[in-house]
Amino acid sequence: MKAVCYGLQWGDEGKGKVTTYLSKDFDYIVRYSGGSNAGHTVEYGEFKLVHHLVPSFDVRTKTKGYIANGVVVDLKVLNDEVEELKKIGFDISGRLKISSLAHIVLPVHKMLDEKLELSKGSKAVGTTKRGIGPAYADKVHRIGLRLVDLKEKEVALEKLRFVSELYKNLYSIEWNDYDCIFEEYEKLKDCIVSPLEMRSELNNSNILFEGTQGVLLDVDMGSYPYVTGTYCNVTGVEPGLGYPMKIDKRIGVFKAYLTRVGEGPFPTELFGKEADELRKAGKEYGATTGRPRRCGWLDLPLLRYGIEISNCDEMIMTKADVLIGMEKVKVAVRYKTSEHGKVTDMPYDLSLISNVHVEYVEFDGWKSLDDKNFEKFVKFIESETGKRITYISTGALISDIVRVS
Ligand code: IMO
Ligand code: MG
Repeated sequence: MKAVCYGLQWGDEGKGKVTTYLSKDFDYIVRYSGGSNAGHTVEYGEFKLVHHLVPSFDVRTKTKGYIANGVVVDLKVLNDEVEELKKIGFDISGRLKISSLAHIVLPVHKMLDEKLELSKGSKAVGTTKRGIGPAYADKVHRIGLRLVDLKEKEVALEKLRFVSELYKNLYSIEWNDYDCIFEEYEKLKDCIVSPLEMRSELNNSNILFEGTQGVLLDVDMGSYPYVTGTYCNVTGVEPGLGYPMKIDKRIGVFKAYLTRVGEGPFPTELFGKEADELRKAGKEYGATTGRPRRCGWLDLPLLRYGIEISNCDEMIMTKADVLIGMEKVKVAVRYKTSEHGKVTDMPYDLSLISNVHVEYVEFDGWKSLDDKNFEKFVKFIESETGKRITYISTGALISDIVRVS
């Protein structure tokens, strides 16, 4: 079985918790895109983990993790995460593999990320400043360094000096502390594998590919330019791996409401007291940057779009428990614009999506997830999207999840 578990919205749907829950039935959890911009909070009960680069497998089981070549790796962040795990008694070094073709996020990438954001002024994307965009850009500029390039120190030094020189000339960014790269590399050396070596192993394994961010942040199909630097859609699996892979099941995760970190249009966004209450109840603060997340109502036009572009097979709903006790819960059902009337497709023109009139359906709130009002909410989403909701997350813990169909 090869499945993908990915976000259907703007990230932070709870993919980390869901992937960890599902991981026990798989041999490998594979990260195929993104970098340390991802922040997956997983509550085990006795301890809590925040994953940025380590794939979301249950550390108490035997499931392994593979970081494929589509990921850009900040070596220090990854080592720190592995260290944190060791401190609480989990030595996962034998259970973590990294493709030798994965590109490295260098300090200059983070500096450029910051500088670009500052220079863009009001047009800034609101990135996580983890160097993601510049690392992917350098991959395409063909000046990036992959893990395999660090094998021979002298050759690697030459490449690093070349990149530094370019950054100095092009962006007035100075960096020459190369030692830290080699120090971090040494600690990870034993985990590095060739993608070809992994190919037969992966072909013969049960794999759950773990998406990062959400499809609305996909560089092609998301709300460009307010997106991340790569493919967060399920289409990222094959380029991320480097070879074709038939996927049996696409499991899309969505939140019962909607959040977004960073800039860009958000038609159902709430402000003031309503937003503050939802943010507080849902603990909606970025796991990577600590930024307060923008909060709003579930948006069905966007959810339908996410389902369509990812060929979603089934869905998992998270965080409906956060809405318990609310008198009314709203769901956006369609957009209208003054010029175009009813909008059925995702308006790619951002000036359009920023100015849509949103039509809502209002539901009576629920006092628990066994409440009939909640059932109505679930059935409505299923009928409006045409997709089954197979699991509902009922709380923060990995075990807080029920199968519904
Ligand atoms: P997980 O995996 C939510 C957002 C940033 C910004 C845009 C570009 O935890 O769901 P980047 O640093 O990637 O260049 O920033 O993408 N973003 C996320 N938002 N969850 C994430 O990851 C995100 N990763 C990036 O806030 O708007
Ligand atoms: Mg997150």
